[in-house]
Formats: sequence, structure tokens, C-alpha cells
Amino acid sequence: AMTGKGNYNHFMQKEIFEQPAVIGDTLHSFINPATRSIKLPDMPFNIGDATRLTIVACGTSFYAGLVAKHWIERYAGLGVDVDVASEFRYRCPPMPKGGIALFISQSGETADTLAALRYAKSKGQKILSIVNVPESTIARESDVVLQTYAGPEIGVASTKAFTTQLTVLACLAVTIGRENGSLSAKDEAGIVSALTELPKQVAEILHHDEEIRNLAINIADARDVLYLGRGLGYPIALEGALKLKEISYIHAEGYAAGEMKHGPIALIDPLVPIIVIAPSDDLFEKTVSNMQEAAARGGRVIFLSDAKGLETIGDMASATVEMPAVADFASPILYTIPVQMLAYHVAVHKGTDVDQPRNLAKSVTVE
Ligand code: G6P
Repeated sequence: AMTGKGNYNHFMQKEIFEQPAVIGDTLHSFINPATRSIKLPDMPFNIGDATRLTIVACGTSFYAGLVAKHWIERYAGLGVDVDVASEFRYRCPPMPKGGIALFISQSGETADTLAALRYAKSKGQKILSIVNVPESTIARESDVVLQTYAGPEIGVASTKAFTTQLTVLACLAVTIGRENGSLSAKDEAGIVSALTELPKQVAEILHHDEEIRNLAINIADARDVLYLGRGLGYPIALEGALKLKEISYIHAEGYAAGEMKHGPIALIDPLVPIIVIAPSDDLFEKTVSNMQEAAARGGRVIFLSDAKGLETIGDMASATVEMPAVADFASPILYTIPVQMLAYHVAVHKGTDVDQPRNLAKSVTVE
């Protein structure tokens, strides 16, 4: 793997632009394009028999877990608990018989995640992990390792590791659904086709770099930024807010759009940009009505949607980013890209240390 920055200004920028390739590589290792089916490595247990799945991670990897909960509950009918490792490990949670625990970690070395893994193992769970570093401690202590093929990630703020984690989790959700009988071969083929489109669609969004940079310049002086989304868009709102605060030091919050009226709506004034993640899926209308509530209170809305969605909202938003139309299932992977780009350009504009933000470490190996 190339370890320099090449023609890019920052590792983060390079890693954002590598995503079409690394999502493609990750898909390649789990998808059979001929049969449009998914093939994960053999497991020493039948994942279709799982009674419950517990997902534990930290930071951006935790948000990947939130997306996975949605996929696995909705498409595979399996109940999922998701928690941050530092909470999970000290709560003494009871763990179900026949349960599987999944640990998501780019580095495979995060101390809290490793401690959570050891706890789950002591409670008789089968241990699955998704890591980017196959020789890591978390990988070594797992029953089954699913690798993300992101290549080395140098920027402290995770980008390509996150979208490849989502890619693997999508394959895992489909596998669980197939094995427990919730998902037909036809459903699987449909999802595989949608996933196969992703590298091209991600590349398409990367072409909006200049446009997103201009939006970023407009929010660089904000003190607070709100990110809203529903369903699969909610964890992406959280991730967008995390990226922005990590590298630009602007206070940002991700919120479930429907929860806005229970608090954050009080913050809205013309100085607070509101980024709305709104693919035209079955929750679109609901998200739009939350956007209208924000706009009516003077909020500066930046609306991310596809052509169909943008047509519906007319000129209600102050700015828009037109996304490729995407199958519902695949939307979180695609909508991650513009929020990464936005955070990156805000940070560059502010002149912060994009690849080494203050106070943060790439891998948190001590508690
Ligand atoms: C640190 C990094 C984050 C990362 C988190 C979890 O906070 O700065 O980018 O998401 O650790 O790391 P892991 O290696 O376990 O995914």
C-alpha cells in the first residue's frame, strides 16, 4: 500500500478519495457477482441460530454499529443491542444463551473494546469482530474475524475505515437474514446489486468536491452545527457531527430528526447551520416536516437528497447537495461521503491540523 500522501494535501483527503476503491475491494472479498450472493468466511457456529446480537465499539466504529442494528433488525429480523465499550464493560450486562457479540474496531487495539470482548467471552458469547488490522489483539481473540480492506488509515478522523465497516456489516446483515430465513435469494440479489453500485456512486459524489467546499466556507464561522437524520440517516447525522467537531473544533450535534422538538429546536436561529440527511426513502416525508420546522425558525438548512427529494422540497432549504439516487439499504454508505467532505473542508478553511487534531489519538490503547 502507498504510505505517502501522493497528490493530496492531507491523509484524510486521500483516504476520503480512496473510498470507491476500498469499498470495491471489501465487496470483492465477500460478494460473488455471478450469483449475486454473499459469502462470508466459514464460521464455527451457525449465525442463523443467533438469538440476539450485541454490538460493542467506540467512536466512529460505534456509529457503524448503529447502522448495523437498523439493517439486522429490519432485514434479518434479529434483535440487536449496541453500546459503547466504556459503558458496556462496566454495566455487567446479562448476556443471552446462544448470543453472538460483535466488536467493531479499525485498529483492533482499542482498550475498552478489547475489555468488552473479554467480558462477552466470559459470558459464553460467540465472538465476531470486524477489524481493519488482521493481526490485532481483537482479531486474535475472536472466533471469527471479518476484515475491512481499507488499507492503512493514517488520518485520526476515521473515513474509509467507517465506510468499509458498513460494507462488511451490510454483508453480515444479509448473511444473517439468509441463514435464519428472513431474506430470500431474490432479496439478497437485490441488495447485492445495490451494494455493487456503490463504488461508482461514491466516485460521483467525490466530483462535488468544489461545491461542498463552497458550502463549507459558509459554515466555517458557525459556533454550533446541527445534523439531523432518521432511520439509516440518523447514525450518519451522528457521524457527520463527530467528524466536524473532531477536526474543525466546531460544536456539532447529531440528532434523530424526530427528537428535534424535544430539545435542539431551542438552539435554532439563523446562525446555526442544520445539515439534513434525507434520501428519498420511506421516512423522507417525516424528515422534510422536521426540516420545515427548523426552516420556519430561521434555521439555515443544508439539505442532502437525491433529485426526487430535492424536487419535493423546492426552495425550502438554503443550500442543497444532490446525491445519486440510491437503494434504501445502501444509503448510509453513500451519505457518509458528503459529511466527511464537509468536515474536511471546514477544517482546511479554518487551518486546523486535519490529520492530527488536538487532544485526539488514532488508537486509544489505554483506558
Ligand atoms: C479513536 C479514533 C477514532 C475511532 C475510535 C475507535 O477515537 O480517533 O477515529 O473511531 O478511536 O477506534 P477503533 O480503532 O476501535 O475503531
